[in-house]
Amino acid sequence: MRRILVTGRGGQLATGLEAALPALGFEALLVGQPEFEFDKPETVVAAFHALKPDAVVNCAAWTAVDAAEDDEAGAFRANALGPALLGQLTREAGIPIIQISTDYVYDGLKGAPYLESDAPNPLSAYGRTKLAGEWAARAANPRCTVLRTAWVFAPMGRNFLRTMLALGEQRPELRVVADQWGSPTAAPDLADAIAAILAQIRTQGWRDECADVFHATGGGFTTWHSFAEAIFAEAATHGGPCPKIHAITTADYPTKATRPADGRLDNGKLSRVFGVTLPPWEQGMKRVMAALRKAG
Ligand SMILES: NC(=O)c1ccc[n+]([C@@H]2O[C@H](COP(=O)([O-])OP(=O)(O)OC[C@H]3O[C@@H](n4cnc5c(N)ncnc54)[C@H](OP(=O)(O)O)[C@@H]3O)[C@@H](O)[C@H]2O)c1
Repeated sequence: MRRILVTGRGGQLATGLEAALPALGFEALLVGQPEFEFDKPETVVAAFHALKPDAVVNCAAWTAVDAAEDDEAGAFRANALGPALLGQLTREAGIPIIQISTDYVYDGLKGAPYLESDAPNPLSAYGRTKLAGEWAARAANPRCTVLRTAWVFAPMGRNFLRTMLALGEQRPELRVVADQWGSPTAAPDLADAIAAILAQIRTQGWRDECADVFHATGGGFTTWHSFAEAIFAEAATHGGPCPKIHAITTADYPTKATRPADGRLDNGKLSRVFGVTLPPWEQGMKRVMAALRKAG
């Protein structure tokens, strides 16, 4: 197993995999729009057959959570029909697929970290379509590993960390939601974890227990407000902005899509089955901030 097809070129996680996969001896074959477009299934089929991969990591998705409320069918095409097609193609080729999913499949009402055995109950169009994508990929290919991640951030792309730093440069005070809990996940850390999972499949072969759903987030839990404070504390040690961060509630910052208030995920199963644990979110944040500084 060497050639890994990575969808969603230019996205946060795909970009992380571009570096993480070669580090473990894989060849990363990145595909993206326009020549790989879920809305044009023939492009997906053509790219797959041209590249002849040994495994697929499906990072491509409709990730605009609020916009999905206005076009659930469009989100469904990317987030459910896309994985269904990739599941079918990988099944026909006899190769595994890693499908990336989200904590937004849960309603956040459990009051404790979620286990994979807890029932999903998405509150948003995005969450519904991503859950449908899990089912579709798993139904199509018995060699499917689903990874549910959360609060992804990277040195590039649209994410909370970069938004905060940009706003912090412009404003002395910011208001950030303090009543939503989750686990920030550095895309480079998740990419390393995916490369490690693939390396294990390469050496041990496919095991039945790989065909399952796993949580895969940065270690530990926080709120958006505390995440912002940590970002600016780190930025300040390198001469970056240090605005005052006011805690507000979700009700103070209404969004079109409803987010789970408490999306904490238990990552124990990933560790037990694959021996893979992502670093604490604070470490991931420092890694991404260091990469940002390096990029200038
Ligand atoms: N970001 C988060 O906070 C978060 C949280 C939990 C789970 N996840 C999941 O993690 C995975 C990776 O997320 P990410 O943050 O890396 O996402 P991202 O940066 O938004 O990248 C998504 C990629 O998917 C591509 N894409 C969108 N619609 C497509 C379509 N119809 N056909 C083909 N490609 C399409 C995008 O291409 P263009 O840029 O050209 O549109 C982009 O390259 C996704 O499955 C996402 O659902 C993300």
